[in-house]
Amino acid sequence: MAVDARRLAVITGASAGLGADFARQLAAQGWNLVLVARRLDRLQALADEIRNAHRDLEVEVIALDLDLPDAPATLLDRATTRNRQVHALINNAGFGTYGPFEELPWERQQQMLTLNVMRLTELCWLFARHMSGHGQPAHILNVGSVAAFQPTPFFSAYGATKAYVRNFSESLAWELRDSAIRVSCLSPGATRTEFSDVAGIDIPALSDHAQMESSAVVRIGIAGMLAGKPQIVPGFVNILTAFISRLLPRRLLAWGAVIAMGGRATMRNKNGGPS
Ligand SMILES: NC(=O)c1ccc[n+]([C@@H]2O[C@H](COP(=O)([O-])OP(=O)(O)OC[C@H]3O[C@@H](n4cnc5c(N)ncnc54)[C@H](OP(=O)(O)O)[C@@H]3O)[C@@H](O)[C@H]2O)c1
Repeated sequence: MAVDARRLAVITGASAGLGADFARQLAAQGWNLVLVARRLDRLQALADEIRNAHRDLEVEVIALDLDLPDAPATLLDRATTRNRQVHALINNAGFGTYGPFEELPWERQQQMLTLNVMRLTELCWLFARHMSGHGQPAHILNVGSVAAFQPTPFFSAYGATKAYVRNFSESLAWELRDSAIRVSCLSPGATRTEFSDVAGIDIPALSDHAQMESSAVVRIGIAGMLAGKPQIVPGFVNILTAFISRLLPRRLLAWGAVIAMGGRATMRNKNGGPS
């Protein structure tokens, strides 16, 4: 495929899971890439794989901890060096903390709130200004979750970060509707990546067959993004979950979320305290 030199995508969290598949699939569509995460060896291996498959593409890796306060500004500087113009920001880096809220280490929860909410928002702000400046068609894709559609006990703060991502993205999409920038929110359900290991989830409900393939989620995400859809929910079960969440009482939805995650509340009650 001929390279469209005007198209450059910045992908956060590209060293694993959905982010790595965004890189592979956008490269296959001729996008130049800037790949961001903390693990440089992983990013370099992915960049080599993509350069071997698509020799005419520019793939740059940036090892950056987005927990650091100046990381968004550093990323914008690096991505737009030599007057490069960015045409897609894939705000994908994120993680969850699973378990009884008061038992989870505060530092870890703070890092999650910082990454999933603060850094995502600042990156939108910085890159929206950059994209407005160059005026060409551009996309911002924020990765949310089906956890955004209902209360998520034992995933309380994580689900709340994703509810923020969803609401923020929808509002921003509306604000920018008359501009050349399209804002989308991708809300995956359980997907086969490193997410469960990082979050400390080891429960039957997330057994292999219940999870979508990362490549399938990303395929739907990219198609939705390029079509300018504000909300993208991949997979029938996740679409059904999002739909049902509009109909049922919130308390019932909270129970449903607990059961879907393996019924942790029952364990907690049996033990007479936090499990
Ligand atoms: N998998 C699921 O079931 C699922 C469901 C719904 C939503 N999501 C969302 O999908 C997104 C991608 O997650 P995933 O499933 O692909 O998980 P993953 O395989 O664990 O990948 C997470 C990515 O985020 C990066 N990251 C984490 N902390 C970072 C930091 N401080 N600075 C820079 N990069 C950081 C990681 O890279 P380094 O460790 O190398 O920094 C990694 O590349 C997340 O926003 C997640 O909430 C996932």
